[in-house]
Amino acid sequence: MSIKRIGILTGGGDCPGLNAVIRAVVRKAVLQHGCTVLGIKQGWLGLTEGDIEELGIDQVSGILPKGGTILKTSRTNPFKSPDGPARVLDNLKKSQIEALITIGGEDTLGVAHKFSQMGVKVVGVPKTIDNDLSCTDYTFGFDTAVSIATDAIDRLHTTAESHDRVMVVEVMGRHAGWIATIAGIAGGADCILIPEVPFSMDEICKLIKKRHGRGKDFSIVVVAEGAKPAEAKDLVIQSPKVDAFGHVRLGGIGYLVGEEIEKRTGIETRVTILGHIQRGGTPTAFDRVLATRFGIAAVDLVMKGEFGKMVALQGNRVIPVDLADAVKALKTVDMGLYDIAKVFFG
Ligand code: F6P
Repeated sequence: MSIKRIGILTGGGDCPGLNAVIRAVVRKAVLQHGCTVLGIKQGWLGLTEGDIEELGIDQVSGILPKGGTILKTSRTNPFKSPDGPARVLDNLKKSQIEALITIGGEDTLGVAHKFSQMGVKVVGVPKTIDNDLSCTDYTFGFDTAVSIATDAIDRLHTTAESHDRVMVVEVMGRHAGWIATIAGIAGGADCILIPEVPFSMDEICKLIKKRHGRGKDFSIVVVAEGAKPAEAKDLVIQSPKVDAFGHVRLGGIGYLVGEEIEKRTGIETRVTILGHIQRGGTPTAFDRVLATRFGIAAVDLVMKGEFGKMVALQGNRVIPVDLADAVKALKTVDMGLYDIAKVFFG
């Protein structure tokens, strides 16, 4: 029996391209398969509370270039409350949702995987500006974040050069330094600090002094928010409060690095934290197309009855992979790529 009612939700941190996926799912499912698409509000929260509305062609018209998500999002984990899973199952039943497309990162898709094991017909779509989901070369949103960070690094270059300063720029990347590495290479960073490689302040200052010793008056240091000094036990955090998935709010390592550089080298240093600017606004053309391809592929999987899968980009092909494999471990930065970045340090 073919699927006629599809639920769709966006969970976790928002990212550019979410609306492009929603639009693609609705267009394909409604126009080509005669399905009804039900939009679930605020990720898993909407499924625990039954906040669900039909999404038609009109609702998705004009949303392709819009950042954020028209469905809204949250970091709700239904498995954190004793009756959460039962409420989700109940609401799926009440709204007669036969298959569920979940768009999210490790947390949202981890929950999707658990429901899939409980018999819910789930397809996942990989989203996160951090690009740290396994089994896919890219998640949508990452390219936009990298473009924003690269633009910021370019801008910091001109002001750094005018004032003979060190500029430290902190970018997102909780567990993986993909944005820092790629934007750092693209922006010609003189040093890049990532969570995967604990850093030494002595080494950083040596690099900067070496560079200034060969006549350069300024330097650019890119730091991922999850980077930490080798000798430190803990990450630098903004707030110790944890979300429903146990994550603290990171941010501020840039200040620590900037302060130490100024103190140890005597070179005037300034710090910029890009924060949520990297997650806002319109997606790049690459992300719009990737998100659209993912949305179409997700509907194809639903129609073929292939559940417990995530759509993934491998090479130039969008293929199904097992959700279980995608959420097993995070995809950290390829050290070969980081070695390329290191050629330009100092
Ligand atoms: O979605 C991933 C991410 O952007 C991380 O890079 C960052 O640590 C986190 O989300 C910030 O989350 P929030 O928007 O909840 O502060």
